[in-house]
Amino acid sequence: MPRVTALPTEPPIAVFDSGVGGLTVLHECLVSLPHEDFLYLGDTARFPYGNRSAPELRGFAFELADILLEHGAKLLVVACNSATAAALPDLREHLHGRVPVVGVVKPESRRAADVTRSGAVGLIATPATVASGAYERALAGASDGAARLTSVAAPDLASLIQAGGEVDQVTVDCVERACAPLRAAAVDTVILGCTHYPLVRPILQRALGRGVEIVTSGQAIAAEVEAELERDGLTADPHRRGMYRFLSSGDPDEFRRLGTRFLQLPVARVGHVQVAPAPAGTVAA
Ligand code: DGL
Repeated sequence: MPRVTALPTEPPIAVFDSGVGGLTVLHECLVSLPHEDFLYLGDTARFPYGNRSAPELRGFAFELADILLEHGAKLLVVACNSATAAALPDLREHLHGRVPVVGVVKPESRRAADVTRSGAVGLIATPATVASGAYERALAGASDGAARLTSVAAPDLASLIQAGGEVDQVTVDCVERACAPLRAAAVDTVILGCTHYPLVRPILQRALGRGVEIVTSGQAIAAEVEAELERDGLTADPHRRGMYRFLSSGDPDEFRRLGTRFLQLPVARVGHVQVAPAPAGTVAA
């Protein structure tokens, strides 16, 4: 049996999100790649992203990426669906020749194209993600045009999940409203296009029906990150035990309190980073 040791730090894989939701993606990465170091940045000061404009989200993504590169990141994961949908191609260009960038939309779309039997696929996501059309394009590419996407924007669901300790009837009603058009479209596969939704997966599965396949970003992303590291020769020593750390643009104690529920692993030290304030006049519902 190879010995597992904690070795000196490696350049981390950096992950960013609008807040704590991307910890559902980090969770899968930590399980799949236990030998890697991770640095997670949650932009809790400007959460939620889901009602913001694409240019604003691109600005946030560039700013957070630059902070993470200053911390020595070797690869960047955009765990936030709204930020990926708005910013991924531009962000890749911005970071070209510096670090590879992995986002959440394509890996989920490929998985949905693989698992759907009827070609009728559903998406539940924030208004920003739905408005971007990113999932339509990715699913069309992944299925050679064979799959059809029915999209539902859920403006309040992420905030409700984040606020809720216990699951309550308000959340159940919100999930039921989002699922009704998908049931009407007889989809057999549903993409959860927002980092928060895996936390209410049982409610979603009950509303959609047992036969509907739910696709989340976490597992698909972990496989994509692994492949990207191998392609670029960036993989850490597989015999070491990696570390993970956190940065938050909001209150570190609040991040720790909320984060444990999303990560389902201990959230120890959380550092603070300063980001630009959200421009005046933008909606942060
Ligand atoms: N991470 C965001 C997303 O996946 C959560 C929702 C939000 O910030 O509005 O879109």
